[in-house]
Amino acid sequence: MDTPTATLPIHPPHNWSGPSAPMKRPKEIACFSYTPSHEYRPDASGLRYYYPPRLGADLCKGFETFEKLDESQDDHLDSLLKTIVGVERERGGKVEVDVVTWRGMMTKLLACPFEDRDGFEMNATFYQGTIFIEENHEYKVQRQARQSRFQTAPGRPSQDMMSYWGYKFETLSLLPDTWDATSREYIEGREDQIVNNAAQYCSVVQTGIGDTSLIIGGEVDAIWDSKPPPPTSSTNFVELKTSLDPSSPRDLQTFERKLLKFWLQSFLLGVPKIIVGFRSANGILRRLEELETAKIPGIVKKRGGWDGNVAVNFGAGVLSFLRETVVSEGVWRIRRKEKSGVVECWKVEEVGHGEILSEEFINWRIKL
Ligand code: A3P
Ligand code: MG
Ligand code: MG
Repeated sequence: MDTPTATLPIHPPHNWSGPSAPMKRPKEIACFSYTPSHEYRPDASGLRYYYPPRLGADLCKGFETFEKLDESQDDHLDSLLKTIVGVERERGGKVEVDVVTWRGMMTKLLACPFEDRDGFEMNATFYQGTIFIEENHEYKVQRQARQSRFQTAPGRPSQDMMSYWGYKFETLSLLPDTWDATSREYIEGREDQIVNNAAQYCSVVQTGIGDTSLIIGGEVDAIWDSKPPPPTSSTNFVELKTSLDPSSPRDLQTFERKLLKFWLQSFLLGVPKIIVGFRSANGILRRLEELETAKIPGIVKKRGGWDGNVAVNFGAGVLSFLRETVVSEGVWRIRRKEKSGVVECWKVEEVGHGEILSEEFINWRIKL
C-alpha cells in the first residue's frame, strides 16, 4: 500500500504572521553526559563552567591534535530514550507527551520560513501515543560529503579548520569546576589543552509549542555559576558561539541570519544566555559579547530581519501537521528538499519502528 505524501506549505498566504503561538517554558526533567570517549553517563558529570577566555587567543592552535567525535555511526535516539526510561523508572509511570526528538530537529523545523537554501530529512514513528523523530543519518552523511567536496579558496581556512574554531573557543572558555574551585594553573593552561568534542552535557526538557507537548534533548555548553539542586525552575545555562567580527553591512546581515539559529537552539532548551566570541577572518579571538536569548528576536526584528513569532507559529503548525499525519506504526520520512517551499511526510516502512526506537526502550515500555 502506498501512503500518499502529505505536504505543508512553508509560505502560505498568512505566512505564519501574528502573535506567537503559546510556548511552554522548557523545564529540565533529566540530564545525561558523554565522557571524553563518548560513553553515556546518566548524570551531570559532563557539565562545565564558563570563565571568560583570553582575548587575542589563536583559535587555530592545536588543530593537529583535535580529538574529533566519530560521527559515522548512527546513534538514533538511543541516549535520549535511555534517559526517558530512567525518568519513568523513578516516577513509576510513563511520561506522556506528543513528540520526542533531539533539539537539532526542532531547530531545523522552526527555521524553515527563513531558511530557503538547506534541506533536511528525518525519520519518524508513532508508538503508544507519541511521535518519535530522529535525523535521517544517511542523508546527513551524504550532505556532509557534498559539503566537504566544496573546498574553500586557496589560502583561506578549510571547512574543518573553521569547525575546529568553535570547539577551540569552548575549550578556551570552560572549566571542569567553578572558577573558585579551579587552580590558576588550569585556567592559564586552557590554551594548551587538547580539544575534544566527544564529551558533552545534555539537557532533557519538557516543553510545549502551540498545542503540542514535547520532550527535547540537546547539548548545553556550560553553566554560568553552579547548578541548583532539583527541583529547579531555572538554571543559568550558557551557549557558546563563535562568529566573524562584522566589518561591513553584509557581514552584519550574515551575522543576523546566524542569530536565528543561535536563538532557536538556545530558547528550545531554555538556555537564557549566549556568549559570542567574535573572531578575525583567520581565527584570532577579538572580543566577547553576552546576549540574552529572550531579547534577540526583538533586536533583529527592529532592524528588519527575521521574525521569531513566525518561526514559533510555523513550529506549532508543522507539529500539528505531523500529528495529523504520523498516526500509525511504521517509519515515516519527513523531508524538505533544498530550496523547496514545502515540508513533505510519507510512509517508507509499513510496520515496526525501524531503528528509531531502541530495544531497551520498547522492552521497558512493554513491561510498564
Ligand atoms: P560555532 O557555532 O561557534 O561555530 P554548538 O555551538 O552547537 O555547541 O557547536 C559547537 C561547534 O561545533 C560550533 O561552533 C562549530 O564549530 C561546530 N559545529 C556545529 N555544527 C556544525 C556543523 N553542522 N558543521 C560544522 N561544524 C559544526
Ligand atoms: Mg555545544
Ligand atoms: Mg556552542
